[in-house]
Amino acid sequence: MPIGNRFVLIGLTAAGMLLTGCGRPADIAGGAALAAETGCVACHGTNGRGTGPTFPNINGQHAGYMYEQLRKYRSGERVNVIMNDQAQQLTNAQMELLARYYAAQ
Ligand code: HEC
Repeated sequence: MPIGNRFVLIGLTAAGMLLTGCGRPADIAGGAALAAETGCVACHGTNGRGTGPTFPNINGQHAGYMYEQLRKYRSGERVNVIMNDQAQQLTNAQMELLARYYAAQ
């Protein structure tokens, strides 16, 4: 990966972390709709609590951490058949929004 892209990624991650503490209501609402639309709610619920014993609770988890995990699932760096598939459908902006939404639950 070119060095320039790394700086962009670090910037995005930092921005995601900074915004977590003061999530704007409209963004959080958008996160709920996106979580429903992309299917996260089937396993993580609307409130981030796993709907079954094999689905982790992600409510209140750090947004920056979740954003990184979603990126790793998408790249295949973190391996889990379900989440690798889920992350494939997401853009960076969507990952950031979902991470912030679940962090705020
Ligand atoms: C079919 C069930 C299912 C769906 C749908 C699903 N997940 Fe997951 N999710 C899981 C499972 C199972 C794990 C644990 C995977 C592992 O062991 O790495 C997980 C892990 C995660 C993690 C990492 C948690 C941690 O503690 O490291 C995040 C973040 C996450 N999911 C977010 C999402 C988001 C956002 C969506 C929607 C785009 C989504 N998931 C959709 C089942 C699901």
